[in-house]
Amino acid sequence: MKTLTKKIFNFLVLLSTMSICSISFASEGEITDPIAHGEEAHKNHCYKCHTDDIYTRENSFVKSIDALSKQVVRCKEGSDIPWFDEDADAVVQFLNKKYYRF
Ligand code: HEC
Repeated sequence: MKTLTKKIFNFLVLLSTMSICSISFASEGEITDPIAHGEEAHKNHCYKCHTDDIYTRENSFVKSIDALSKQVVRCKEGSDIPWFDEDADAVVQFLNKKYYRF
């Protein structure tokens, strides 16, 4: 009987640990500062093919926030970068704030 109580107790401890974990995962997934998040994500993944110079080039075809967003997705998909939409959005916001200013 004693061991059963102990088992139940352990099970409850396990359950509560799991729920605490899932709560902290949920809050980690939330992007509180998109610009900072975008900057970090950009730094980690976007210097493989071009530098920041491309964002200020003379003949840039990116003329709107929409075009910028499309290009970021195109670059992301062309190189298997494992981002969620939120990450790509954050990078768009970061690039827009730093370079494009639409
Ligand atoms: C696989 C190589 C590659 C990677 C990795 C890459 N890009 Fe690009 N990117 C390009 C090329 C090539 C162009 C130029 C396309 C053209 O001129 O038609 C470009 C152009 C751009 C432009 C348009 C610049 C302008 O104003 O004319 C943006 C914005 C951009 N990339 C963002 C990103 C972002 C954000 C990332 C990270 C997710 C990224 N790129 C990663 C290849 C890449």
